[in-house]
Amino acid sequence: MPRVRTAKTLAKRIDLQYFSKRSSFRSWRLLLSLLLPVIAGGWILGEALFHKHSLYSSGPVSAAHAVFAAQCTLCHIRANAYAATAVDKTCLGCHDAPAHNQRQTYTPACGSCHVEHQGRLRLAATSDSACTQCHNHLMAASGGLRFDPHISGFDHAHPQFAALRAGQTDPGTIRLNHYAHLQPTLRGPAGPVQLQCYDCHRAINVTEPWPYSVAVVQPASQQPVMVGQAEAQQRKRRSVEAGPGAYMTPIKYVNQCAACHVLQFDPLIATPAPHARPEVVHAFIVEKLTEYIREHPSAIGISPNTMEPVPPTADTMQPNAATGQERNPLQPLRQGQMVPQQNVLRPTGPATPPPTSAQNWVEQRASTAERLLWEKNCKICHVVTEGGGNGLPTSVKAVIPVRWFPHAEFDHEAHRMMDCTACHLNIPQSKLTTDINIPGIEICRDCHKQSGSRAGAAEGRCFECHSYHDWRSERRVQGKLDIREIRGSGPVPVAQAADQGTLPAAK
Ligand code: HEC
Ligand code: HEC
Ligand code: HEC
Ligand code: HEC
Ligand code: HEC
Ligand code: HEC
Ligand code: HEC
Ligand code: HEC
Ligand code: HEC
Ligand code: HEC
Repeated sequence: MPRVRTAKTLAKRIDLQYFSKRSSFRSWRLLLSLLLPVIAGGWILGEALFHKHSLYSSGPVSAAHAVFAAQCTLCHIRANAYAATAVDKTCLGCHDAPAHNQRQTYTPACGSCHVEHQGRLRLAATSDSACTQCHNHLMAASGGLRFDPHISGFDHAHPQFAALRAGQTDPGTIRLNHYAHLQPTLRGPAGPVQLQCYDCHRAINVTEPWPYSVAVVQPASQQPVMVGQAEAQQRKRRSVEAGPGAYMTPIKYVNQCAACHVLQFDPLIATPAPHARPEVVHAFIVEKLTEYIREHPSAIGISPNTMEPVPPTADTMQPNAATGQERNPLQPLRQGQMVPQQNVLRPTGPATPPPTSAQNWVEQRASTAERLLWEKNCKICHVVTEGGGNGLPTSVKAVIPVRWFPHAEFDHEAHRMMDCTACHLNIPQSKLTTDINIPGIEICRDCHKQSGSRAGAAEGRCFECHSYHDWRSERRVQGKLDIREIRGSGPVPVAQAADQGTLPAAK
């Protein structure tokens, strides 16, 4: 018999007592719906009472700020009844972060680049968009642009480095032939040598003595010097703390050249001339010759033209170092070891008439010695021009650059796993100072990529090589917080703290 479904039979199935009966499901539901808001409210109230706000936070703050993560008010200032925004003023209370460029059209908020609440990230590792928001279509508040206005990423849309663009010149004036100096049998102070880059170029932090600094007893001006510290301090500070191994020590004659290019000016005088301005050299020569003729009056018979080569070897020179006396010119010379050819002084020109007095002897001899120095010695390395005071020449400033990238950071230390010529490809063949042997952007792109370690590469986002803040104008920030204010147990009432002796009453 077929089943009949009428409204009546269906209605009979409804339990009319349902709502008056107790049900465990419903009572739990009721209980929870009342209790949970109370717990939540209590929790929020409790957290508020104990000045804990982490529950409103959208994620942990950066590692550097973790120590005061619970103290929201150190970064957030209440703007209205509901919102407390992170404002630049709070950041600047703890560290100065100077502006980027005086001509930028607007200043992005600190928090737009240094993203907080994203976990224990490195804050300074900002995204490229923090920079390309301006640099992909650069505008300046006033005046024309000095830099490429369309940079959107290092991989493809970044200009070649300025130092390597067409028309650039090496500002340095000191002549150096890398090719000649890297020959395997270069004449050194004690026989043939093979120079290494390290003999002339070292990071600023290296303190080992220079191998070719001093050959013979030197005047004070020729003692090896520690240079570079000042240059290191001129660096802008940056996120990746680069040590003083970043740049190479500037070349100094006394450190890298003195042992082979001795400024010997007279075979009678063992001490070489100081490496200094021509006036200083002139005064030194006159002084040494005057001293000499006083001690050896008989030498007045030695013509100023007998300027025989005297190789400054350890043999002939060491005794002088001990006694401080000049070598006896009448003693036969032992043919010394190899010295660079250009140190040998060979006077040219007409014979000078014999000297008549000691003063006359000094004048004549000094003039010959100086002419040889300027023309045969200084001139090897320097652009020497006529027209200094007292008929002396002047030497053009050296200006060997220490930084080729004034607008970017570089660090040799971070690349110490590489051979020098892997980047400075042409140095072994370079014969002219005017050659620019700084690597171009294509070499960096082999390793540095925007996607960084995710692409099995070195970091290639803008911050790796550039500063944003102009750290040279950073001002010291005077700290004002005590430990409790930082660690989150709430601001300590001043009076109470002073009572406890944790704060000076004057604060
Ligand atoms: C070191 C500084 C710093 C501290 C400490 C800090 N914040 Fe933030 N917070 C920021 C910055 C920067 C932003 C992003 C800029 C903005 O929205 O104003 C931000 C954004 C927020 C936002 C907006 C949502 C978001 O993720 O963009 C909330 C909510 C927030 N913070 C809550 C908190 C709470 C709650 C605390 C304390 C437990 C706290 N913050 C502590 C710096 C901080
Ligand atoms: C209560 C003081 C304080 C406040 C407020 C503060 N900072 Fe810091 N910040 C520090 C300290 C301390 C360090 C770690 C020491 C250092 O590197 O100088 C640090 C480090 C940093 C670093 C470098 C850390 C890294 O991971 O690279 C950046 C960037 C930074 N803060 C930006 C900000 C910004 C942006 C704000 C504002 C939203 C801010 N700070 C607010 C104290 C503060
Ligand atoms: C608000 C716009 C703006 C933002 C954001 C910005 N810049 Fe600049 N930047 C400028 C202006 C303007 C100049 C000057 C341009 C000129 O003189 O031609 C400049 C110049 C530069 C220079 C060359 C001069 C120098 O100071 O060495 C570099 C490099 C540079 N910015 C890198 C960056 C990096 C890296 C970032 C991201 C962290 C960034 N900029 C973010 C506006 C901006
Ligand atoms: C005898 C000392 C000496 C040796 C050895 C030497 N250099 Fe130099 N180097 C100099 C001097 C001096 C300068 C500055 C004059 C100039 O610009 O050429 C210089 C300049 C440079 C520059 C600056 C860029 C340029 O083109 O001016 C680079 C890069 C360089 N050297 C790399 C090297 C490398 C790599 C080696 C080893 C393969 C090396 N040097 C060996 C003395 C030396
Ligand atoms: C356009 C993006 C941008 C803005 C806006 C910005 N920064 Fe930076 N900040 C950077 C970059 C990139 C670095 C790392 C390179 C450098 O040191 O300049 C950095 C570095 C820092 C450092 C040093 C980090 C370290 O390792 O020592 C501090 C501190 C800092 N910023 C604080 C601030 C504060 C405070 C503000 C707001 C007044 C701010 N920044 C605004 C991009 C920015
Ligand atoms: C073997 C190469 C060499 C010879 C030879 C040489 N110099 Fe120099 N000179 C240098 C180098 C390298 C520098 C740059 C750094 C330094 O040593 O101060 C320099 C710098 C100078 C400076 C400082 C220039 C400046 O930029 O302020 C003066 C002055 C100077 N030399 C004078 C002389 C005189 C005078 C002679 C000859 C008596 C001479 N030099 C011989 C290599 C040489
Ligand atoms: C190990 C010894 C040694 C050192 C160190 C040395 N030189 Fe030389 N230099 C020589 C010799 C040897 C010659 C002659 C090479 C030749 O004629 O083949 C020479 C030649 C030169 C010449 C003439 C180059 C030419 O094109 O013929 C210059 C310029 C020069 N040196 C500059 C320097 C400077 C600057 C330094 C220091 C940075 C320096 N040298 C360090 C040994 C040295
Ligand atoms: C990863 C590539 C790379 C390697 C490897 C490298 N350099 Fe450089 N070097 C550079 C760049 C880039 C500059 C220009 C940086 C600047 O001045 O701002 C430079 C500049 C120089 C300069 C001239 C400026 C200065 O700092 O005095 C010398 C000298 C130099 N390098 C020598 C060396 C020597 C020696 C080695 C081996 C120990 C070496 N470099 C290894 C990339 C490299
Ligand atoms: C691997 C290192 C590296 C990275 C990554 C990098 N740059 Fe550069 N950038 C340099 C060097 C080196 C220079 C040459 C600086 C100089 O000539 O003083 C330069 C030059 C510049 C200049 C000056 C351009 C000009 O016309 O001379 C600007 C602006 C600049 N970079 C912005 C950026 C921006 C924006 C980013 C990120 C999208 C970035 N750079 C990424 C190394 C880098
Ligand atoms: C053989 C691969 C390689 C080449 C080529 C290379 N780099 Fe690097 N570079 C690295 C590595 C690895 C690091 C350190 C790890 C990191 O920060 O990602 C580094 C770090 C750096 C840093 C950060 C330095 C610091 O203080 O930590 C700068 C800036 C830099 N490189 C610039 C350059 C420039 C400019 C060139 C091209 C002239 C270049 N690099 C070529 C591998 C390379």
